Amino acid sequence: MEKIEVDFEKMYYGFPVILTSFYDENEVAHVTPSSSSYSLKDMIMLGFNSKGFAAQHLKAGADFVVNLPDRSLLESVNYCGSRSGAEGSKFAAAGLTPEASEHVHAPVVKECPISTACRVVEVVESEHFPGLTNIIGRIISRTITKDVLNAEGRLQIDKLNPIIYAGDGVNKGFRFLQES
Ligand SMILES: Cc1cc2nc3c(=O)[nH]c(=O)nc-3n(C[C@H](O)[C@H](O)[C@H](O)COP(=O)(O)O)c2cc1C
Repeated sequence: MEKIEVDFEKMYYGFPVILTSFYDENEVAHVTPSSSSYSLKDMIMLGFNSKGFAAQHLKAGADFVVNLPDRSLLESVNYCGSRSGAEGSKFAAAGLTPEASEHVHAPVVKECPISTACRVVEVVESEHFPGLTNIIGRIISRTITKDVLNAEGRLQIDKLNPIIYAGDGVNKGFRFLQES
């Protein structure tokens, strides 16, 4: 396969969109979309622009829930990505419903089929990458709608309908595993 070198400032090669939810210091529920995350066993890592409202609150130690929206929530994702929680909660205007998690002090996004309750264990900010804040969390609990579980209670992979975000910084967009 012949390749040519490119000078993209970033390349997101297809990451699932997540909605991270948390309470601020006044117990107001907030939600932020992002695509920079990965998980290994009971660890989850989220990457943020340090200036974001979510980044600042998770850095300060707020519990959080990582929710996986499906394709039907694309409009809500775009709305939440176009505004900051610094202006107020985005939940209602985005058509999303916060429900208290039973496992951590953070709201779950009711409309998302998968929600993972987490606690911050470490914050990584490196002088090599100024402006980026990485949050390392411990997964406390996972809740999943029965619709994506099989008879044995395990994940039914072909029922998952995540929103996949890809882009080079200039060209960017969403891809889907299912037609609708
Ligand atoms: C699909 C999508 C993916 C995004 N991925 C990230 C990300 O990985 N990290 C990040 O800091 N912001 C990301 N953003 C941008 C934030 O969602 C956006 O800046 C938002 O307004 C921040 O809200 P907050 O200030 O309430 O945290 C993404 C936005 C969208 C729509």
